[in-house]
Amino acid sequence: MKTDSSEKYAYRTPEGMWSKVFSYHPFMPILERTEGIYLYDKEGNRYFDVSGGPMAIGIPHGDKRIKEAINQQLDKYAYCHPMLSDQARAELCDKLSIVAPGTLNTTFLTPGGGSDAIETAIKLVRQYYLTQQKSEKHIIISHYDSYHGMSLGALSVAGIAGLRNPFDPYIIKWPKINQYSERERPSDLSPEEYGIRAAQRLEECIYYSGQKNVAAFIATPIGCGPDYGVIPPASYWKSIREICDENDVLLIADEVITGFGRMGKWFCMEHFDVQADIMVMGKGITSLYAPMGGVMISDKINEPFSKGVHFNHGFTNQAHAVSCAAASAVIDILEKDNLIENSASVGEYLHSQKDRLLAHPSIADTRGKGLFMVIEIVANKETMDFFPRDSQPEFWLQSIGLKHGVVFYNTLYGPRRPSMGKRGLPFWISPPLSITREQIDELLDAVDWTLTEWEEKMGV
Ligand SMILES: Cc1ncc(COP(=O)(O)O)c(C=O)c1O
Repeated sequence: MKTDSSEKYAYRTPEGMWSKVFSYHPFMPILERTEGIYLYDKEGNRYFDVSGGPMAIGIPHGDKRIKEAINQQLDKYAYCHPMLSDQARAELCDKLSIVAPGTLNTTFLTPGGGSDAIETAIKLVRQYYLTQQKSEKHIIISHYDSYHGMSLGALSVAGIAGLRNPFDPYIIKWPKINQYSERERPSDLSPEEYGIRAAQRLEECIYYSGQKNVAAFIATPIGCGPDYGVIPPASYWKSIREICDENDVLLIADEVITGFGRMGKWFCMEHFDVQADIMVMGKGITSLYAPMGGVMISDKINEPFSKGVHFNHGFTNQAHAVSCAAASAVIDILEKDNLIENSASVGEYLHSQKDRLLAHPSIADTRGKGLFMVIEIVANKETMDFFPRDSQPEFWLQSIGLKHGVVFYNTLYGPRRPSMGKRGLPFWISPPLSITREQIDELLDAVDWTLTEWEEKMGV
């Protein structure tokens, strides 16, 4: 266990060339290279990639097969002229139709990631209903406290007020409902019973918004905000599906984080045996070897477009051939290396170790599935209060973590990051999906040491 303390674990100050990067305040270590589940800085220090970057890296770092796939694509062409057929795109869409659930068979690939995929989903919903001569349908309902990206359409469906407030004049005021929350479940109701009741909020919201006006409901399969990572019972999603069908409202599943094996299945909605009409993807689709997002739509939604309706949307970099090559290789590797099975089984082991974490006075809860664990840190488990902001809890957690060889995600937005939740601070254990049980043990040792030292520092 390393215990040296020094300036090298502080935020980088904007000096020299670093001052030319707008609003960039990471920690001091400069990333030199990555391999497997590890990150190495310029001084040769090794860190666990505890969170898989921003909960996005499924394939281990530095996989040569992806490098090769990208190189092979570059040897042919980097970008396909829009007037010609791009085989790299078709091959990827074909592979996606095989791994995606049910009738989600057709894909629109976006250039950047989750946010532009959310914009695309919003526009698809609208244009679908225009083809059905239901032009009044435009409202998209979502969850309070949800996060769906930073673009303006994404902020319109997002429920985190702090992210929306500065842009209020540009944001559409669509209605929101409360999500399924274990903490709000009445003691006389089972999770299954409460799941049905919680879903009824959508029915009420559709009723009061006017059924004829409501086009879609969008949500992440798992909880958001203060309930980040809570897995609702299947009854919640089954009831939501029924309510959508009864009211002619489309269901959009935002699988940007939960897709591509993160939760132990290809896509998280499979855990509930519920299929969305539209599925939004990002992050794991390329494991960040190249930028890309995507939207998969069911055969029903695709029908008017497949008959020639023009989708009024597009980006220069959409379905970029290099990203397509990377994503195709990601799907092949997830299959070939049994990484989704590994996520399920090693994930089960990870969650079986939760008592180690809960023994800490600051850890109020751990939750999740597969290789996705959300850990909720609080100052006081009784009141669930968090630390005062000026005590810099996030800074100290990450800076002490770096000393112990772990890189989290919670602090990496720098000192101006808005706090994520009303209650505690979530941090994530969501490493590359190749991680072994032995590596989980080593990672948890490092997290343990970090928490112990951090709790001492914070006076918990
Ligand atoms: C659930 C969810 N949807 C959408 C997004 C936006 O994705 P991106 O940052 O790639 O634009 C994120 C990003 O974290 C996300 O967590």
